Amino acid sequence: MTKIWTPMIAAAVVAWAAASAHAETLQVTSPDGKITVTVKDDGGQATYAVSFEGEEVIAPSKLGLIFAEHPGFERGLAIAGATRASNDTTWEQPWGERRLVRDQHNELAVTFGAKQGPARQMTVRFRAFDTGVGFRYELPEQAALQGDIAIVDELTQFGVGDKTTMWYTPSDEFNRYEYVTRTAPAGEVTSAHTPATFRKESGIHFSIHEAALVDYSSMSLGALRAGNFEAKLRNWSGGPKVKTTAPFKSPWRTIQVAREAVGLINSDIILNLNEPNKLGDVSWVEPGKYVGIWWAMHINEKTWGSGPIHGATTAETKRYIDFAAEHGFSGVLVEGWNIGWDGDWFNNGELFRFTEPMPDFDLAELGRYAQSKGVRLIGHHETSANIANYESQMEAAFDLYEKVGVRQVKTGYVADAGDAVRLDQDGVRRYEWHDSQFMVGHHLRVVEAAAKRKIAINAHEPVKDTGLRRTYPNWMAREGARGMEFNAWGTPPNPPSHEPMLAFTRMLAGPMDFTPGIFDLKPNERAPVRADVPRGDPSNRPQTTLAKQLALYVVLYSPLQMAADLPENYEARPEAFQFIKDVEADWEQSIALAGEVGEYVAFARQGRKSQEWFLGAVTDEEPRDLSLSLTFLEKGKQYRAQVYRDGADAHWDTNPYAMVIEETVVTGGDTFDVRLASSGGVAVRFIPAG
Ligand code: NOJ
Repeated sequence: MTKIWTPMIAAAVVAWAAASAHAETLQVTSPDGKITVTVKDDGGQATYAVSFEGEEVIAPSKLGLIFAEHPGFERGLAIAGATRASNDTTWEQPWGERRLVRDQHNELAVTFGAKQGPARQMTVRFRAFDTGVGFRYELPEQAALQGDIAIVDELTQFGVGDKTTMWYTPSDEFNRYEYVTRTAPAGEVTSAHTPATFRKESGIHFSIHEAALVDYSSMSLGALRAGNFEAKLRNWSGGPKVKTTAPFKSPWRTIQVAREAVGLINSDIILNLNEPNKLGDVSWVEPGKYVGIWWAMHINEKTWGSGPIHGATTAETKRYIDFAAEHGFSGVLVEGWNIGWDGDWFNNGELFRFTEPMPDFDLAELGRYAQSKGVRLIGHHETSANIANYESQMEAAFDLYEKVGVRQVKTGYVADAGDAVRLDQDGVRRYEWHDSQFMVGHHLRVVEAAAKRKIAINAHEPVKDTGLRRTYPNWMAREGARGMEFNAWGTPPNPPSHEPMLAFTRMLAGPMDFTPGIFDLKPNERAPVRADVPRGDPSNRPQTTLAKQLALYVVLYSPLQMAADLPENYEARPEAFQFIKDVEADWEQSIALAGEVGEYVAFARQGRKSQEWFLGAVTDEEPRDLSLSLTFLEKGKQYRAQVYRDGADAHWDTNPYAMVIEETVVTGGDTFDVRLASSGGVAVRFIPAG
């Protein structure tokens, strides 16, 4: 339902006539009245500000765009018109953290006109939701903006305040998004990826990110002055930041706002600002849990390359398929199956052959064998970010995978930031950033080519998630932060605060293929399999208890959840493994119950298939007593609660395996009291009784 209020347009047009005399002010408020966006043409500049319950969240901040050749939108602007609308609709996700998503917002689209130079107009469309704000630039086709347009700067600013606490990873550094999250007063931060999370001195939380990043370059935050950031767009190698033509729409700039930290998680504005599903019937996109020939390489048990301990052999893959079939996993990921892994694969991406298996890997037979057991192979395309090499083989590679029954492919772009290889129109090698407009386009080319073969994508070393899974539901998951692998070789590994931090930062963008479930918590202390393949530094290990590993299946959302450890490590602990077998990967609803950024977090999620509820909570180094109300359970119903909690003397470092598994009967009227050990956790399955 969309309402257009024409009186506002009339009022704005009158304002345009008098524009040179005084600044015009327009406002739009969220449906619950708590969030207000104020838009002005103050002194000829377009500005916006955001407040929450009357308190300033974003101070008056500049808007605008500058082009290389064409006249831009920086100064000499006046509000030329405005339209308003409101929306309250509910749509259904094919898979996700909740099935039904409500899109309730009020909209204000403000058109700014130039008072000097060639006549031209730019519209900024604002949407105010109860959980935050989105806005984007819309440039209609017009005489002043003919031909190819090069955006050299987006002037959007975010006045967050210098004393505001900020949680962020640095942008512009070699390891892309894979840094331990830092905490600092915003005034001390010079550059940051989004989502970046903030807490004002008053306790209000907010997060800056973007939605629907299509045919544009990615935005990071660059400090202009202490506590005032500018949208920093990644540039093309030797080129502008964005190449486009009018008409065009920028991605949405988003500001999620909530009093409590968990309010940031319980927000759907990123998805709501993306376009609906473009792929039609996507019943072939299937969430699920998988195992794989993966961790073995990270802990030097096996190799990606050929040789005596090559991981991806036909026999080893059959062992994983049998294990998956026996324990109810739907997929088996196989890495290191194709030609190109031998030697320095980090730097020789041009050697990868995506249709040529190694001699000891019988792809056709394994595809058949897997399906005969009710399991599917999960494909792997490591490209080392040689995009030219990959795109020249991509269609054939997906054809091959389709033929052998593969429905999901993990892609990979291992290379330093700024080293993604493209060939230009003259065949010259150019190096692009992982978050450039070129890579934004590349990922969508992959997703579309895969969709034609009913294949879903899980991208590692990706461009960040901006909610495009709504439009392309086969883009199921990504990495885009430090995952479990850092606990094999990260030096230092992920700290105890990592997962409760991810929940309030990276995870606000969308699902992450974190790959939880490591049961042998000191993998580098195992004897090496061969003297010439030594284990890594023993200080690299998951810094968690066993119960926390289980809790991650509920805490870190992904529709593709890996049981990442070796089959033998699960067989050694069947009671704990039972939770991974029981937990679902697709949800009817999800609720972040409690938490503080980087300290602890607790989630309840209801499985879409079983309608059973699951609870997961994790803490940082600090042991914690949690008291969680079970009001999410259906009223009047009894549930058997199967609890996997830290033992009384558990500690991630000294006693990580101490875990109690017990069953109790609860109702929605109960409170669940539990103690989490240092870097501990709890996982619970609630089965409706009777
Ligand atoms: C990095 C990915 O994150 C990891 O999952 C993968 O095993 C390696 N690259 C090799 O492709």
